[in-house]
Amino acid sequence: MTLGRKQSTIFLDELVLSGDYLPPRLLYRENELTRLLDSLSESLSGEKKLVALFGLSGVGKSTLAKAACRLFSIGLRRNRLNNGFVHISCYSARTVNALFSQILKFLSPYSTTKGLPTEQIVKSVDSKAIEQNLSFTVVLDDFHALKSDVASDFFAHFTTGKVRLRPFNFVVISHEKNITLHKKRLKLELIECAPYTAEQVAQIIADRVERAFNKGVVPQEVVERVTKLGKEGDIRFKLELLRRAGRIAEQKKADSLTLEHIEEALANMVDSHILEHLPTLEEHELLLLYSICRSIRSSKQGFAIIGEVEREYAEVCSRLSIQPRKHTQVWEYLQKLKKLEIVLTRISGKGQRGKTTVISLNGASLDSTITEVIKEIRRRGLSRSERSNTS
Ligand SMILES: Nc1ncnc2c1ncn2[C@@H]1O[C@H](COP(=O)(O)OP(=O)(O)O)[C@@H](O)[C@H]1O
Ligand SMILES: [Mg+2]
Repeated sequence: MTLGRKQSTIFLDELVLSGDYLPPRLLYRENELTRLLDSLSESLSGEKKLVALFGLSGVGKSTLAKAACRLFSIGLRRNRLNNGFVHISCYSARTVNALFSQILKFLSPYSTTKGLPTEQIVKSVDSKAIEQNLSFTVVLDDFHALKSDVASDFFAHFTTGKVRLRPFNFVVISHEKNITLHKKRLKLELIECAPYTAEQVAQIIADRVERAFNKGVVPQEVVERVTKLGKEGDIRFKLELLRRAGRIAEQKKADSLTLEHIEEALANMVDSHILEHLPTLEEHELLLLYSICRSIRSSKQGFAIIGEVEREYAEVCSRLSIQPRKHTQVWEYLQKLKKLEIVLTRISGKGQRGKTTVISLNGASLDSTITEVIKEIRRRGLSRSERSNTS
C-alpha cells in the first residue's frame, strides 16, 4: 500500500542522498573507524581522552563519528554497560551554556534549560550522569565554529572535576589539525580523514546512486559529470547535487536524469566548505565577503576589483551603522577569505588600466552565496533589512 504517496519514477529512496543518512557501510574508512573505536574503548579504563577527527568538508568525518559511536554503544550494551553518546553541532551550540544544555537534554529529555545559569545546568548534568551511572561520549561536531575561550571553558568543567562523568570520551570534529586545548589534562589523539582518491569518490557516488535512484534512471555520463563537480573530495556536495537534480527531473516528469538537470541544480548550489566557514568568519570578514558578492554582481563580469569592493564595504558598514576597518585590515580579511578558498584573487593583466587586484568567488554560484551570506548576517542580528534582492 502506498498510503496516498505517489511512487517516484526517479527515486528509489531519496533519503539515501540526505546529509543525515547514515550509510550501512563506510567505504575506504575501515582504518579510521577501527582507530576511533579502539580509542573510545580505551576510555573504559578511566583515561581522559580527546579524539580529534580532522579533514576537509564532506570527507565523511561526521558520518564516521556517528558510525563509531553507534558500534561502540552496541558493544557496551552487550556487556550490560549503561552508555550513551550525544552529537552536538557547534554551529548551533556556541556557548558553554548551550553545550551543556544539549548534554542535559540527552540525559534528561524533559528538562528545560531556557534562562537557567550555566552552573545550574552543569550541576544537573553532573547529578544525572552519576544517577544513571553512565559511560558517555560527547561529540563536538564542527568544532572550528567554537571560539577557543568557549571551548577551553567547556573542557575545564570536566578536567577540574565539576562534572564527574566516568568514564567519558570527547570526540571533536574539525577542519583544522591544531587542537591545542587542554593537552596536558586530556590525552589527545589525532585521526585524519584524508581526502579520497578520484576512483574512491567515483565508487562512493556510484554505490549511493544505486540505492537512491530507480534502476536505469542515472546514466553513466551523469555519474561521471557529478563526480567531477565541486571540490574533489566533497561527497556531500555531490550527493546534494544529485538529490536536487533528481527533484528537477521529477518535476519535469522526465524518466531519467540528464546533464541539463545537473546544470540546473548546480546553479543553486553552494559548496559545503563555504557553508561551513560562514559561521566561523569574523563580523568584518563576513561583511567584506558580502561586499565582494555585491560588487561582482554589479560588475556583471564574474569578478570585481579591489577598489570597488572597498567602496562597497564602506557603504555596507555605513548602512549597518558599523565602523568600517582600515585598508590594511581589509586586506588581511581578504587574505583570510582567500586562504579559506572562498575567493580567488589575481593581479589584473591586459585590458585593465593599471595593476589592481581582481577578486572572484572560488567556483560557487553567486546568487546562492549571497543568499547564504545574508542569512548569516541576519542570524547574527547585524541587520534585519538586508535581503537578497537589494541591488
Ligand atoms: N567513505 C564513505 N562511504 C560512504 N559515504 C560516505 C563516505 N564518506 C562520506 N560519505 C558521505 O558523504 C557525505 C558527507 O559526509 P560527512 O560525514 O557529512 O562529511 P564531513 O562531516 O567530513 O563534512 C555523507 O552523505 C556521507 O554519508
Ligand atoms: Mg560534518
